[in-house]
Amino acid sequence: MRKVLVLFSHPKFEKSRANAILVDKIKDKEGVTFHDLYQRYPDFNIDVDAEKALMSAHDIIIFHHPFYWYSCPPLMKQWIDMVLEFGWAYGPNGTALHAKKCLNVITTGGSRALYCEQGTNSFSVKEFLRPFEQTANLCGMQYFPPFAVMGTHKIEDKELHDYAHQYDKLIDLLQQDIALLAVNDFSFLNDIPQLNTEI
Ligand SMILES: Cc1cc2nc3c(=O)[nH]c(=O)nc-3n(C[C@H](O)[C@H](O)[C@H](O)COP(=O)(O)O)c2cc1C
Repeated sequence: MRKVLVLFSHPKFEKSRANAILVDKIKDKEGVTFHDLYQRYPDFNIDVDAEKALMSAHDIIIFHHPFYWYSCPPLMKQWIDMVLEFGWAYGPNGTALHAKKCLNVITTGGSRALYCEQGTNSFSVKEFLRPFEQTANLCGMQYFPPFAVMGTHKIEDKELHDYAHQYDKLIDLLQQDIALLAVNDFSFLNDIPQLNTEI
């Protein structure tokens, strides 16, 4: 079974509704390491060696966070800046992450319809996540489309629980290393057929 590392970043997790429901569903799953960055590093003083060891011990890396100003909260950026070192994650001999897989799991206040050229947010989620995609490319990781829970301001708890169930199922698929065939044809992993069958 492939090992999954969930790097979770939420500055106000005690006030969270959407992520609280998602996290509750997957945090104790077998083969999943749930790593709450704000809990572990409230002072932003990241233990780089410990984080590198954690990365090395996992096959699939999930950047799980609410969308804040079209990006991730600051501790996740700090984590990326500190941990993905030259000569380790990229550059000559920087092969530690080669062949790992990674993706973003995000929640957004704005609905899906707002994330397009004609919408208030002008650009797609995929476009906003380009820095993550290219970071993965540079580090030799395979980057998947995001799993996204959108329109969180208006979403009912029941729907959030449905998303949590889908997230749980997605992790099962990733752990089994089922070839997620043609996933890059989809803008969101939410839409892949394997997550939309009732089995
Ligand atoms: C500082 C801040 C910035 C935000 N930026 C965005 C944004 O750029 N796009 C968006 O759709 N929602 C944005 N939101 C809304 C959050 O994404 C939304 O409240 C969150 O995903 C809900 O998850 P939670 O219940 O776990 O907190 C922002 C919220 C805050 C507090």
